[in-house]
Amino acid sequence: MELELVNLKKTYGMIQALKGINYRFEKGIYGILGANGAGKSTMINLITDNISRDKDGGEILYNGKDILKLGKEFRKLIGYMPQQQGFYEDFSPKTFLSYMAEVKGLKGKNVKNQIDELLDIVNLKNVANKRIGGFSGGMRQRVLLAQALLGNPKILILDEPTAGLDPKERIGIRNYIAELSNDKIILFATHVVSDIECIADKVIIIKNGELIAQGTPMQMIESVSGKVGEINCSLEDVAQLQGKYSVGNLRQRKNGLGLRIVSDKLPKEAHIIEDSIDLEDVYLYYFG
Ligand SMILES: Nc1ncnc2c1ncn2[C@@H]1O[C@H](COP(=O)(O)OP(=O)(O)O)[C@@H](O)[C@H]1O
Ligand SMILES: [Mg+2]
Repeated sequence: MELELVNLKKTYGMIQALKGINYRFEKGIYGILGANGAGKSTMINLITDNISRDKDGGEILYNGKDILKLGKEFRKLIGYMPQQQGFYEDFSPKTFLSYMAEVKGLKGKNVKNQIDELLDIVNLKNVANKRIGGFSGGMRQRVLLAQALLGNPKILILDEPTAGLDPKERIGIRNYIAELSNDKIILFATHVVSDIECIADKVIIIKNGELIAQGTPMQMIESVSGKVGEINCSLEDVAQLQGKYSVGNLRQRKNGLGLRIVSDKLPKEAHIIEDSIDLEDVYLYYFG
């Protein structure tokens, strides 16, 4: 099973939102990291066929076949959780999922059971028949996630699935997705590193419409080895350092304030951090 992007491009008027992405997804969880405006949703909307591909916009192949030629199979193949979606406020989770099951062409007795099961999984069982209009942001996100899982799709695409969730809900969704992974291609787009940190098999970094780095989390972390340091400084120093380097969190240390710095060339006063480098540092290196 593979999903391949070949020279995928997208232009909106004057904006070149995607500049030729090449990548092959196989089974596993892919963390797609990028700042706001990087092009993540554009890439996803092309894969899900929610926006049209430009004439010379490249190819999206599932097992070698362009997804636009898959016909009916396509809707069942892909489960998609959009970054934003309006609801009919009068729908309940149950009626919404039943409606979406129809859209996907799912039929048969077990659709009902599946909907009950999914609502249980995302912890909405006891509000299954309540109006979505009265739901919190987190509850709406969970309805959307359940909807994406209908029909047990081979490809699951989640666009900022934890947006608007509180920390506990974030962890819940993340853990649930981690458990799903076995036989699926899962794309998890986010600008929040901790969402994908411990669950992604591979990480892809998108910046200004280009895929600028990719690898396993370990490979990504190794790639910034020697570039991460901490410097003792005062609050007043921070602004100046910020102008010169990618800087992370300021931390209170025993001996004063410590500022994380990621750079190809660290200042002399910095001491190099070796054993506690993580994906946040990688993100900082590219987006700091
Ligand atoms: N429908 C649209 N019309 C015009 N510009 C768009 C549209 N959608 C996205 N863009 C622009 O394309 C770029 C990539 O956006 P997007 O794919 O939404 O990034 P991300 O999901 O990483 O935040 C941004 O510059 C954004 O402003
Ligand atoms: Mg987006």
